[in-house]
Amino acid sequence: MDRLLEIEGLTKRFGPITAVDNISFSVDRGEVLGFLGPNGAGKSTTMKMATGYLSPTSGAIKVCGNDVRQHPIEIKRRIGYLPEGAPLYGEMTPHSLLNFVSDVRQLSREQRRNGIDHAVESLHLERVLHQPIETLSKGYKRRVGLAQAIIHDPDVLVLDEPTDGLDPNQKHEVRELLDRMSSTKAIIISTHILEEVDAVCSRAIIISQGRIVADQMPSQLEERSRFHNAVGIRVTPDGAERCMSILHEISGVRSVEQVIQSSGLSELVAFPVDGGDIIGPVRAALDDNGLAVSEMFVEKGRLEDVFRDLTIGGPGDDVGGATMKEEADHA
Ligand SMILES: Nc1ncnc2c1ncn2[C@@H]1O[C@H](COP(=O)(O)OP(=O)(O)O)[C@@H](O)[C@H]1O
Ligand SMILES: [Mg+2]
Repeated sequence: MDRLLEIEGLTKRFGPITAVDNISFSVDRGEVLGFLGPNGAGKSTTMKMATGYLSPTSGAIKVCGNDVRQHPIEIKRRIGYLPEGAPLYGEMTPHSLLNFVSDVRQLSREQRRNGIDHAVESLHLERVLHQPIETLSKGYKRRVGLAQAIIHDPDVLVLDEPTDGLDPNQKHEVRELLDRMSSTKAIIISTHILEEVDAVCSRAIIISQGRIVADQMPSQLEERSRFHNAVGIRVTPDGAERCMSILHEISGVRSVEQVIQSSGLSELVAFPVDGGDIIGPVRAALDDNGLAVSEMFVEKGRLEDVFRDLTIGGPGDDVGGATMKEEADHA
């Protein structure tokens, strides 16, 4: 295994605020790690430290085996970083910015040509190459930011909200780009778009108030949702009550909830006991009773649910409070 980023006991305090509180994790080549958390959780602060742009209060960071503090130049060569909000030199054009970044990075002529060509092509910047960056749309600015982050073909890519401000097609393109690059790099992306985790990440870390509250594969996170293996059933409103009582009779069904759909259909959700598999018994019971349903499906689990539970804090959890709730709602 090729461990490209190692973070151990990382903490950052700003006066009385502990923005990052004793975080440890590592990322291997081939992994795309999703960094999730409500606004103010500490994602950007962690990324700034991991890339050597902010020094930690305590803790250690290694990039490709090199300590960030001892080898600041070497690690910047191995890392590509898209900062939050992508501050770019507005009066430059994408073309002049990419050349400037190549100079700063001291790329050889060949590296520069390949790097710029690849970045421009992957991010579809051809049309705006000679237009001042400040006149570009938010989506194009993000893509210029991404281009400068990948120009030197880094081993570690740290992207702070890379799809922020992009339209659905552009998001899709960025996800495809990440997918293509993922086998040869270690990639960390922060996001509060949960569908992104399913779409691109092989692993997800959820942070809340500067601490890691989950570090798992997306599918494992989904399994923590109360909707995991729940069965949704859409029926006409006159069949809903009978369907409900049939579902209640099934021993593997813990509870049933009803939601009225905008389509006029009723949706019933049968929740399993202990996340068990209930689609077989549900289908059999409905068939036996001759109840016609419009639609039936098994849920994988809802990440929003898990995210909220972990970042707002349930009963007996010491995480919580009005501020966190507002931020989570906002996210
Ligand atoms: N330079 C700074 N000075 C003081 N507080 C900061 C600074 N940067 C971040 N913070 C605080 O640290 C916490 C984490 O911020 P940040 O890492 O930006 O969160 P996220 O990226 O998850 O939204 C927040 O409470 C934020 O206000
Ligand atoms: Mg941030």
